Amino acid sequence: LWTPANIIDDATTKLRAQLGDDQVLLGLSGGVDSSVVAALLKRAIGDRLVCVFVDTGLLRWREGDQVMATMAEHMGVRVIRVNAADRYFAALAGVQDPEAKRKIIGGLFIDIFEEEAAKLEGIRWLAQGTIYPDVIESAGSATGKAHVIKSHHNVGGLPEHMKFQLVEPLRELFKDEVRRIGVELGLPREMVYRHPFPGPGLGVRILGEVKREYAELLAQADHIFIDELRKHDLYDVTSQAFAVFLPIKSVGVVGDGRAYEWVIALRAVETIDFMTAHWAHLPYEFLDIVSRRIINELRGISRVVYDISGKPPATIEWE
Ligand code: XMP
Repeated sequence: LWTPANIIDDATTKLRAQLGDDQVLLGLSGGVDSSVVAALLKRAIGDRLVCVFVDTGLLRWREGDQVMATMAEHMGVRVIRVNAADRYFAALAGVQDPEAKRKIIGGLFIDIFEEEAAKLEGIRWLAQGTIYPDVIESAGSATGKAHVIKSHHNVGGLPEHMKFQLVEPLRELFKDEVRRIGVELGLPREMVYRHPFPGPGLGVRILGEVKREYAELLAQADHIFIDELRKHDLYDVTSQAFAVFLPIKSVGVVGDGRAYEWVIALRAVETIDFMTAHWAHLPYEFLDIVSRRIINELRGISRVVYDISGKPPATIEWE
């Protein structure tokens, strides 16, 4: 019988048999899949699970602290947090091209992960939050073009020379099953039912060159948008919603003066499979509230626009 509790019991038994007394390393991203793997492994092998969480400076507002609060404090998982924002901003300085940015962000993640792994001793296993749709997607990309348009750094694994054995306890599960297991394991609903967030994070939501100043403004604008969506019960009816930073200066009036500041675009879509999507017809009154809050609360933003493009021809992300 398929119930979350049964799946968990079954997975726990299998993991204990597979892993014995070995230690396991997991890269925690803050996303649903890796969080559920962490919770599951914690249940199965306790403190023999070690997680590495890389704070890239390109995460959602206060996400680093939230991951630590939930996973480390609430769930009792061993998490090593690496504050790597300085390295990310340095590596991204002067880089404009979206695919080049993706490569840098993904490459640096692997470097940092390897550095942390090298400091730990006696780890034989690497856990990954691969779910069934990822398995199908990567099978397709071996023969086709699924990954040509955008390289997803969170799918595809680590380089050859990292000699770990892989453990992928969610490999046979669909997303909704993973979510139900997550709730059953005690993860907060809010985390488990979050909108998807791309591996490269805010790095591909800041158009062109990524700067710390832009990332800080964008994280705050995005937080205002998400906060209002939740308050208006609109979060769960949109599939994905976020703010995008446009490094264009636009004229505005602030108080008595003339301001010449950046632009924020809001993007919200409804979709089943993320392959095609409609822009969400959010109420004008709602958009008005979000726009006012962003402009009033954030110094440096003087204009907010709403993206009314479908996919196709536009993609969900702007880069
Ligand atoms: P697009 O922009 O291609 O996005 O319509 C479809 C879905 O994929 C996510 N996305 C990414 N996820 N790494 C990821 O892990 C990436 O480089 C990446 N690019 C897009 C996007 O957020 C949306 O959910």
